[in-house]
Amino acid sequence: MNKGLFIVIEGIDGSGKGTQSKRLKSWLTDKNKHATTHSVFHTMEPTGGKIGVLLRNALKDGTIAPKILALLFAADRIEHCKEIEQHLEEGKIVISDRYLYSSIAYQGSQGVDKEWIMEINKFSLIPDIVFYLDITPESGLKRIFSRAKSYEHLKNEQKERDYLEKIDSLEKVRKNYLKLADENPFFVTINAEKTRKEVQGSIRKVMGRLLKAGKTSNDKDLRYFL
Ligand code: TMP
Repeated sequence: MNKGLFIVIEGIDGSGKGTQSKRLKSWLTDKNKHATTHSVFHTMEPTGGKIGVLLRNALKDGTIAPKILALLFAADRIEHCKEIEQHLEEGKIVISDRYLYSSIAYQGSQGVDKEWIMEINKFSLIPDIVFYLDITPESGLKRIFSRAKSYEHLKNEQKERDYLEKIDSLEKVRKNYLKLADENPFFVTINAEKTRKEVQGSIRKVMGRLLKAGKTSNDKDLRYFL
């Protein structure tokens, strides 16, 4: 019996998933701000496990075929799901920074068939809520570059070409996310162009409502509650 809640945060690079998922955890665990009795487990994909580390290197490398990447992400997720399930059974709120929908959005944008991705991820747990942080690739990349203090590199021609390629590929990823959000009732789309505080406010509003009503993964009507 699963008395926890499985929350996923998704979005393209630079959408602020990392910050938002950590802030959500702080809010949920701060007894002065929110009186949830659930413990919270924060996690991410790729994981810190052996296949996750291998994947991070493979992504830097950039020479691994998308179909192979999809298989590796699914392999990493098998271990991850076991861990998540355990925490949910203990009644925890699990917050995952990326999950299955990253495979559909990213590997899907690289030409891998969506049905096949679903097939190799058949074992995956379905989350209770996916907060999809929607942002344009331009805004997302701007945030990444300003963080790395390397925006001037756009003067360089080769780098400018790389930038445009990245915009183009993230555009395809975003399109896939928007389609997923449209198809799945448990997706909550948040406008991530807004300030961090506003984005966090929108996430907390939904979470607060669910917790107040005492909803957990066991409640069949949870998805319609969103
Ligand atoms: P991040 O740590 O910035 O979120 O980066 C992880 C990268 O991994 C990001 O570029 C998206 C990519 N990714 C996939 O392509 N497929 C997946 O299934 C997952 C989980 C991540």
